[in-house]
Amino acid sequence: MVAAMFPAAGSGRRMGAKKNKVLLSLDGKPILVHTLRKFSNSPSVDFLVVIAGENEIDEVGRILEDEADLKPYKIVAGGSERQYSVENGLKALPDDAEIVLVHDAARPLVAVDTIEKVISAVREKGAAIAAVPEKNTVKVVENGIIVDTPKREKLYAAQTPQGFKRDVLLNAYEKARKDGFLGTDDSSLVERMGFSVHIVIDDDKNIKLTTPSDLKMAEAYLGHL
Ligand code: CTP
Ligand code: MG
Repeated sequence: MVAAMFPAAGSGRRMGAKKNKVLLSLDGKPILVHTLRKFSNSPSVDFLVVIAGENEIDEVGRILEDEADLKPYKIVAGGSERQYSVENGLKALPDDAEIVLVHDAARPLVAVDTIEKVISAVREKGAAIAAVPEKNTVKVVENGIIVDTPKREKLYAAQTPQGFKRDVLLNAYEKARKDGFLGTDDSSLVERMGFSVHIVIDDDKNIKLTTPSDLKMAEAYLGHL
């Protein structure tokens, strides 16, 4: 079976709101609910693990109780870094989960098609993430000075969902902990094991809602601006 995990235990500092951004309302319901509905509408997803802030578990529980059509789910407490939150989520995986997806709760605009494509790629290849070809020319900068301009054709922005065979992800997390490695996504932990991670080309609507203008953009995508 396929389990999807949702890190939602951040504070949303860059959003500048009074509460965790994933609990803010988008088109009348919390961002987290939009995200969970997408995965509940994905035929290949069987189980959801919601990773909430320790102090927000009750609130998240109440919000999800009101949602009739969610796939079976569990809520667990997160940690101080996204990686630690995911690590806690891994401990709560159902025994029969063979494929694990990790998806930022703050990406409610993900397409069901992307979720399904990532799952198929994981079945075939063991590890795959949603990614978007880079539109900008990206510079590597050290001390305010450009030291490299990588060829744009080689650059992709990593999105989520990121999917892995269960053992691949568990081994990568164990090794990262042992080495004290802290990555900004799940794929980087798997890459450093020497395992090939494939990409699934995603659409550029699947943004991570980070700042107030991202929230406006999401409203616009949903046809409310
Ligand atoms: N996240 C988490 N646990 C943390 C930090 C982040 O579960 N300790 C989650 C967030 O809730 C979010 C996702 O990881 O769904 C991506 O992180 P990000 O966009 O950085 O969210 P925040 O950390 O909440 O935002 P900010 O960095 O602006 O404070
Ligand atoms: Mg953060």
